Amino acid sequence: MCGIVGYIGAKQAAPILLDGLAKLEYRGYDSAGIAVLNEQAVGVTKTKGRLKALSDLLDGGKKAAGSVGIGHTRWATHGAPSDVNSHPHTNAAGTLAIVHNGSIENYMRIKVFLQEKGYQFVSETDTEVIAHLADYFYEGDLVDMVVKLTEKLEGSYALGILSSEHPDELIAVRKESPLIVGLGDGENYIASDIPAILQYTRKVYLLENGEIARLTKDGITVYDANKNVVPKEVFEVDWDVSAAEKGGYEHFMFKEIMEEPEAIHKTITPIIKEGLLKFGRVPDRVAIVACGSAYHVGVVGKYVIEKLAGIPVEVDIASEFRYRDPIITDNTLVVIISQSGETADTLAALREAKKRGGRILGIVNVVGSSIARESDEVLYTLAGPEIAVATTKAYATQLSAIYLLGLSLAKAEGRLSAADEKIYCDALERMPELIAGLLEQKDVLAQYAKQYYTAKNVFFIGRGLDYAVALEGSLKLKEISYIHSEAYGAGELKHGTISLIEEGTLVVALATQDLLFDKMVSNIKEVKARGAVVLSVAEEGNTEIEECSDVVLYIPKNNQLFTPSLTVVLLQLLAYYIAGEKGCDIDKPRNLAKSVTVE
Ligand code: G6P
Repeated sequence: MCGIVGYIGAKQAAPILLDGLAKLEYRGYDSAGIAVLNEQAVGVTKTKGRLKALSDLLDGGKKAAGSVGIGHTRWATHGAPSDVNSHPHTNAAGTLAIVHNGSIENYMRIKVFLQEKGYQFVSETDTEVIAHLADYFYEGDLVDMVVKLTEKLEGSYALGILSSEHPDELIAVRKESPLIVGLGDGENYIASDIPAILQYTRKVYLLENGEIARLTKDGITVYDANKNVVPKEVFEVDWDVSAAEKGGYEHFMFKEIMEEPEAIHKTITPIIKEGLLKFGRVPDRVAIVACGSAYHVGVVGKYVIEKLAGIPVEVDIASEFRYRDPIITDNTLVVIISQSGETADTLAALREAKKRGGRILGIVNVVGSSIARESDEVLYTLAGPEIAVATTKAYATQLSAIYLLGLSLAKAEGRLSAADEKIYCDALERMPELIAGLLEQKDVLAQYAKQYYTAKNVFFIGRGLDYAVALEGSLKLKEISYIHSEAYGAGELKHGTISLIEEGTLVVALATQDLLFDKMVSNIKEVKARGAVVLSVAEEGNTEIEECSDVVLYIPKNNQLFTPSLTVVLLQLLAYYIAGEKGCDIDKPRNLAKSVTVE
């Protein structure tokens, strides 16, 4: 949600800001803006639309001279995307500029308070309220001003602030929304996320909640909320710049699908080599909490963990879990799954579970993220930076992590013999190669996409693990191609939804589970009888399904528990090519953002 970048140094700030924002555009892309300090004045340029519109206005940055600046790319929360609602926002005198990621919950009250003092507002945003409140509190020192701001503001925020009265300073503060500080040589940076500054420095400070950073070009001082200096450790980023670039592919999404074999290999190998996870005390219940695709991994997790370990598992959407008085005991293992490690509802759910005594295991991709830091233990997925808004490789690695967790719990429960452990781990280790084989079939999917991209409604049906992966296939399709789709347990369809099946409706039927195969065939026949066009996915050899399907895609045989990892690749490619046929903006679908740091 919204990307922030800031620069202070000797170079021209604007090109660096534009470049950083380009790397953060996945966080929000409905408007963008920068503020640059020039000759003791704050120059603000901002506009509705993609970053390209801003860059054109600034002639690639040439039209904004100055070597201190802040930039922002927005995902609208308060007020529609418009020039005036875009960030940065300033005080009335235009001496102070602020960029903000997050959501201020008491902004209406503060706005009324400021209006009574004579402040006037031009936008609908909560951020403009911060700018005027900052003006109200300012008495000569920016950090003192921020300390007062943080006492008053409720909700979440990462802020970048500059002032023409302090041309040698850039201020950053965060609470609940991510913000890092990058350490350069004679120059320093702030950013919502590491890729924004990775080409300039690998050394960063991860700001904790409530911390305030004062940056000059030669130094950084970090304070706590009471203005005590906080010693910070340098965090060295060990990924490659190229990992956050498109590398010749047309879309990040495609590149990231292609990276799945390697990402899975990296995630599983160290754990298989070092032995599975150990548990001091075997949990008597598991609660999995996440949002979006990560939640769909949790649904797979329920089947896998219950089957392998015999431990009851509940799966919850984080935004529901946190407000429903969940039952968590000190022997509940709470598994929090998140690519970004910053999703607001997921983080809040983690805290709620912790308060109730649960042991938290985070399955997280971004090292040093809030969820990683607040979990008792972390199982990192090593997918590398994922840029496309629609997750693919991170989902793939999260699945691998959940399989490893299932096996580990089974072993801890004494339900996994050494021989079985080897069989399962071998099957997992084969996965990258099997996925690579499926990826070679991409042109077949591209062909089917040409056939099906005009569909208005698509139904994904499956049973058991196939139902779990149907949820993800359906989400992928709708989020990037804007085709309405629904995922249904194949046996449940007849309880109402089958009324929507008519001549030509596309049904994607997943039938990879031997035990449920015959049941699936019956369900496929039910929709066929009502005119559906059926694209089935089955395991190699189960050719019987061809009789009742229009098209069959096959996945190679492997352990049946792990079929979601294979099936999903086909569904990701199908969604990708269908969105391509429709001319959609694949990496940046409308209305979405990758990292959802508001409730
Ligand atoms: C957003 C993304 C989804 C993602 C979800 C959870 O909605 O668009 O792709 O699954 O957030 O994100 P997380 O970073 O917590 O996995």
